[in-house]
Amino acid sequence: MSPFLLTRTLPEDATEAALRADVLKGLTHTPKTLPPKWFYDAHGSELFEQITELPEYYPTRAEREILVARSGEIAAATGARTLVELGSGSSEKTRYLLDALTGLHTYVPVDVSESALTQAGHALIAQRPELSVHALIADFTGGLSLPGTPGPRLVAFLGGTIGNLLPAERAAFLSSVRSLLSPGDALLLGTDLVKDENVLVRAYDDAAGVTAAFNKNVLTVVNRELGADFDPGAFDHVALWDAENEWIEMRLRSRKDQTVKVPALDLAVDFAADEELHTEISAKFRKEGVRSELSAAGLELAHWWTDGEGRFALSLSVAR
Ligand SMILES: C[S@@+](CC[C@H](N)C(=O)[O-])C[C@H]1O[C@@H](n2cnc3c(N)ncnc32)[C@H](O)[C@@H]1O
Repeated sequence: MSPFLLTRTLPEDATEAALRADVLKGLTHTPKTLPPKWFYDAHGSELFEQITELPEYYPTRAEREILVARSGEIAAATGARTLVELGSGSSEKTRYLLDALTGLHTYVPVDVSESALTQAGHALIAQRPELSVHALIADFTGGLSLPGTPGPRLVAFLGGTIGNLLPAERAAFLSSVRSLLSPGDALLLGTDLVKDENVLVRAYDDAAGVTAAFNKNVLTVVNRELGADFDPGAFDHVALWDAENEWIEMRLRSRKDQTVKVPALDLAVDFAADEELHTEISAKFRKEGVRSELSAAGLELAHWWTDGEGRFALSLSVAR
């Protein structure tokens, strides 16, 4: 196998069909919604990388701290020969795992963002020419089919991305991950933890406005792909803490009464002034909640590590 292989698991037109279906469903729903996976075109992936470096956005630094401290233990506990990473993005933090997993045969980064996979894959091959990288352009909520690479297999899902799924979606997702695991395989899961509301809100509403630009990028994607005429300047970025559900919500609030046309769907969508389009949730977790969600999916929590300030957790679980 060549050291870098990029496989599209969906037909070329499936992404557009999925976007059309999501936009039609989301913009005709009350409240209006758009799923977060559509943030991540090449520009959105770049904006996310900028977010990870913002002073307010602690999750990346906290998770990196845990990986630096614990990758050796993770390698010893799993002995993984294949590392599958879901929503891998830039794979920047993954390097600590890749360095620690000395017996690794293949790294399988999985993402909807082709640009992120290509950039990360080429950078890795330059630094680790002996590693085989089999990147998959795929939707991790869509039933994955993985390449036949040697076990044990470690599936990593970092960045707190699991918090972008609603509870029922998380249950279905964790069951599908469980079905990818054989005895001796493991799941490494990054979860952001419940904490002070101000710290949380600032992480999603930074002073430089990068998260606002990231949130509005979904409108640009719909404009480009479906010919819509969203004016991103006519929407305000909103981040709020839902204390009951223990999640952050990102929304786009219409600054005025306006009608947006989506020609590819033959759709005209009315927004009232102050009406909010829901774009992303980011759920925050507690240890017992994570344990019970894993357990419901047939996974047993084996290790729980946090950063020094207890802001973020990495858990390692095994198939029961
Ligand atoms: C919050 S970022 C995290 C990136 C990286 N894992 C990190 O920890 O910095 C989420 C990543 O998941 C990808 N993503 C989002 N939804 C996805 C989906 N349904 N299927 C596959 N990848 C997805 C995005 O393109 C992005 O790279």
